[in-house]
Amino acid sequence: MKTISVCSLSGGQGKTTTSLLLAKNLSAAGHTVCMLDADPQHSLTLFSGIELAADEPSLLEFLKGQGEALDHVLPVEGDERLFIIASDDSLDSAHEYLVQTGMGATVLKRRLSALSDHFDYCIIDSPPQRSQLVLTVFGAADYLLIPAESTIKGFASAVRTLDLFQQQKELGATEAEILGLIPFRDRWFGRNQSKESSLSISAMHDEVGADKVLPSILESEKYKRSIAHGEALPDKLNYPFEVLLERLK
Ligand SMILES: Nc1ncnc2c1ncn2[C@@H]1O[C@H](COP(=O)(O)OP(=O)(O)OP(=O)(O)O)[C@@H](O)[C@H]1O
Ligand SMILES: [Mg+2]
Repeated sequence: MKTISVCSLSGGQGKTTTSLLLAKNLSAAGHTVCMLDADPQHSLTLFSGIELAADEPSLLEFLKGQGEALDHVLPVEGDERLFIIASDDSLDSAHEYLVQTGMGATVLKRRLSALSDHFDYCIIDSPPQRSQLVLTVFGAADYLLIPAESTIKGFASAVRTLDLFQQQKELGATEAEILGLIPFRDRWFGRNQSKESSLSISAMHDEVGADKVLPSILESEKYKRSIAHGEALPDKLNYPFEVLLERLK
């Protein structure tokens, strides 16, 4: 199983959108995929059509090693190869548990090893704040994917995420490789790209090298409809995910 963590240390950078569309593209290509919702806001869980009842297993119990690992994995309706370890706002209390263990960065990696024979990919959506959850999500990753809004704020978020990742790497707390940086909400007016999109995307190229910057997710309501209602994306808008799948081969 290859684990891809989708991280960016600001709100609204496209983490959940990227996680869900990448997972769906992988399952459409014939892979079995387990998504993991590591954000207490649990948008990925909701977009997967799931609302956990108080007694249902969530990522919190999975992290704590309670019960069989596979019992925490729920099927996503309408897609036989897509599954999720879901969350609710109780995940907020994961912080204390991860701190208490003293091994927070490695907990999720250890728990996921029990699933490695069952899935081809694990895709992890993460919270926007620098937190123990983000550190354990870095620790679990084979690959790190950073979505960043095509704005100055988005570029700053990507830089903060890269800095924290490098820090963790130097500490030996993650062995992940950077899969890429994906510009989000790239704005065009007809044939003209907005100045802010153009500037921020070239800053991303300078920061990580052009080969690590993926084709951008264009500003378009069609992505919202695809995530919320499962509408198919036109090929042109799905292109960044085709390139990602090629990179993963
Ligand atoms: N291509 C797009 N163009 C415009 N808006 C989009 C596009 N894709 C998604 N959105 C909207 O942008 C918002 C932010 O996206 P998303 O939820 O994926 O970001 P996030 O990084 O997961 O946010 P958070 O940090 O709050 O979890 C959402 O309201 C989403 O519906
Ligand atoms: Mg999100």
